[in-house]
Amino acid sequence: MTHAGAGYVVSLLFLSLLTLDVEASDSRQPNGETVSVPVESIRCPAPCVCSYDYNDDYNVFCSSRNLSRVPELLPAGVRMLWLDGNNLTTMQSGAFKNLSALDFLNLQSNQLASLEQHALHGLKSLAHLNLERNVLKFLAPNTFLHTQSLVTLSLNNNYFAKIEDGLFSGLSNLWYLNLGWNSLMVLPNTVFHDLPNLRELVLAGNHLVYLHPSLFLSLAELKELDLSWNSLRGIKANVFSTLHKIQKLYLNHNQISTIAPRAFYGMKSLRWLNLSHNRLTSMFDDTFVGLSSLHVLRLYNNSLTSLRPRIFKDLQFLEELNIGHNKLKLLLERTFEGLGQLESLSLNHNYIQEIRLGAFSGLQNVAVMNLSGNCIKVLPEHSFKGLGKLHILHMENSCVSRIKPQMFSGLSSVRRLFLQRNEISIIEDQSFTELQSLLELDLSSNKLTQLSARTFMGLDSLFYLLLSSNQLQVISPEAFRPPQQLQWLDLSDNQLRSLPDDLFLTLTHLRYLNLQRNFLKSISVDFLLRHLPLQQLWLSNNSWDCSCSLKELRDFSLRNATVVPRVVQSISEGEDISTIIYTYNNITCVSPPEAFDQDLRDLSEEHFAACPST
Ligand SMILES: *[C@@H]1O[C@H](CO)[C@@H](O)[C@H](O)[C@H]1NC(C)=O
Ligand SMILES: *[C@@H]1O[C@H](CO)[C@@H](O)[C@H](O)[C@H]1NC(C)=O
Ligand SMILES: *[C@@H]1O[C@H](CO)[C@@H](O)[C@H](O)[C@H]1NC(C)=O
Ligand SMILES: *[C@@H]1O[C@H](CO)[C@@H](O)[C@H](O)[C@H]1NC(C)=O
Ligand SMILES: *[C@@H]1O[C@H](CO)[C@@H](O)[C@H](O)[C@H]1NC(C)=O
Ligand SMILES: *[C@@H]1O[C@H](CO)[C@@H](O)[C@H](O)[C@H]1NC(C)=O
Ligand SMILES: *[C@@H]1O[C@H](CO)[C@@H](O)[C@H](O)[C@H]1NC(C)=O
Ligand SMILES: *[C@@H]1O[C@H](CO)[C@@H](O)[C@H](O)[C@H]1NC(C)=O
Ligand SMILES: *[C@@H]1O[C@H](CO)[C@@H](O)[C@H](O)[C@H]1NC(C)=O
Repeated sequence: MTHAGAGYVVSLLFLSLLTLDVEASDSRQPNGETVSVPVESIRCPAPCVCSYDYNDDYNVFCSSRNLSRVPELLPAGVRMLWLDGNNLTTMQSGAFKNLSALDFLNLQSNQLASLEQHALHGLKSLAHLNLERNVLKFLAPNTFLHTQSLVTLSLNNNYFAKIEDGLFSGLSNLWYLNLGWNSLMVLPNTVFHDLPNLRELVLAGNHLVYLHPSLFLSLAELKELDLSWNSLRGIKANVFSTLHKIQKLYLNHNQISTIAPRAFYGMKSLRWLNLSHNRLTSMFDDTFVGLSSLHVLRLYNNSLTSLRPRIFKDLQFLEELNIGHNKLKLLLERTFEGLGQLESLSLNHNYIQEIRLGAFSGLQNVAVMNLSGNCIKVLPEHSFKGLGKLHILHMENSCVSRIKPQMFSGLSSVRRLFLQRNEISIIEDQSFTELQSLLELDLSSNKLTQLSARTFMGLDSLFYLLLSSNQLQVISPEAFRPPQQLQWLDLSDNQLRSLPDDLFLTLTHLRYLNLQRNFLKSISVDFLLRHLPLQQLWLSNNSWDCSCSLKELRDFSLRNATVVPRVVQSISEGEDISTIIYTYNNITCVSPPEAFDQDLRDLSEEHFAACPST
């Protein structure tokens, strides 16, 4: 949001608070001084609304009044003038010539196709000029000759195909210049040479193909440069080298395929560099040399096929590195060396097949790592060693077929481990023993057939365990002995025919248990009777044998209808409509024949009359 935008909100607020009677203004004598503006000139022009703001500045609001010309008799002392959203098509010479006190002029969203040469004549004090969203194609070189106090100038969303050299000359107070979303293909080499105080320059959304080395040469105070959404093909050396104070550089959404070595050298204040959505295939050893303040580097959605070891070595303050959606196949040893402050590393959706031992060395502060959407075939033991601060590891959808001991060694701080949608058929015993801090483990949509007594050994803090959509047939009676803190267990969509009687007995914190869509005939309810915290038990789509063995389940379900609900309603928020979703929890009996297709809870007492009492 620009300065002008913030002012708009404030002014409107005051407008509604103190819509002053303008005729009364002659008696206003702030600080006992005489008001210098003659009464007759403070008349409010016809379709507009006028008011004093909290600074005692006189503001005229003529927004969206269908005006096709600037109202006459604007009071000479006016400080802010709003003419946005009208039907102005051209601006005549001298239109504002009496408004020497005007500070802010908003002309956005008109149909201005041209400004006559002296249109802005007289606006000696004008600091903020907003011309965005018009249909301007051209401005004469001396358009701003009489508005040398300008601080912000918005020319974005017009139809400029070229900018005259010298258009901005003399605007030595200009801080903010927005030329975004026009049709610029080239810029005169010296067009920005007279803007010694420019802080923010927006050139996004044009058709720029090439940046001349002298284009930004004199912008010594520039802090932010937005070149995104252009057609840049490459970045040459020295284009940015004098921008010593720049903090943010956006180059995303271009067609950049090459970056010269040391292209960013000299940008020693740069904190944020966005190179996402380009066509980079490779980078040099010294591509990032000199970026000693960089905090965020985005290389998302390029075509990088490899990363040289130590390519990021100069980025000692980098906190976020995103190389997702590239074509990396292999991570070599020492790739990320030097990134001692890195906290977030995204490598998702590459073609990574092999991770060499030592690839992640030096990343002692990484908290989040995303390796999802790869096809990792080679992951040596101890690959993650040294990542002592890692909290979240994404490895879903990555062709992992077997979990081995030492695979996750060193990850003593990991809280959440995402392994869903892989091809895991085997978890070797004690593979997770070092993950003492793990709270959430997602193994859903894999090919697991069994869980042994030692599969989850060491997971003493585990809270969520998701095992749905596997092929589980056998679960050891001791499988859930170690994760005693478990509160959420999802075993739905497996091939379980029976469960060991005491399987859940030690899970005294269990709140949610899902057994839907298995082949279960019966279940022991001892744990249900003992575990008060259980809040939801899902049982539908099994092969329930509704004979005596399920009598206790029936009694429990009837007594505790909220724990074993028949149906649960939830709301799914869509684009514009939200729909109610019903999730059924029918305990449909498959046998004996007289109970077939009935819900266990609907069977009568007589049906169980012959059962031994408990
Ligand atoms: C502007 O003109 C349009 C139709 O051209 C009309 O709907 C709208 O009410 C007018 N606005 C004002 C403020 O007169
Ligand atoms: C400027 O002020 C002069 C003298 O007060 C007046 O005659 C003229 O109409 C004003 N011009 C505009 C454009 O308001
Ligand atoms: C003025 O412009 C607005 C929006 O661009 C449009 O809706 C309106 O019809 C125009 N009014 C006239 C009188 O041309
Ligand atoms: C920077 O890149 C990301 C993608 O990594 C993109 O989503 C984002 O909009 C970009 N930021 C800016 C300010 O353009
Ligand atoms: C990557 O960029 C291309 C072209 O710029 C775009 O079509 C594609 O949708 C982007 N892919 C992602 C995942 O953002
Ligand atoms: C990591 O990948 C997952 C799945 O592809 C995605 O949902 C998530 O937003 C990614 N996170 C980051 C930080 O890239
Ligand atoms: C089930 O209902 C009984 C009796 O109403 C109650 O004592 C018990 O606490 C409930 N159990 C659970 C797990 O809510
Ligand atoms: C669950 O069972 C019901 C009735 O037996 C059947 O209509 C439904 O398709 C099943 N749902 C799934 C997901 O298998
Ligand atoms: C569950 O039972 C209800 C009746 O209680 C029935 O309307 C619904 O179709 C059943 N749903 C499934 C999936 O079996």
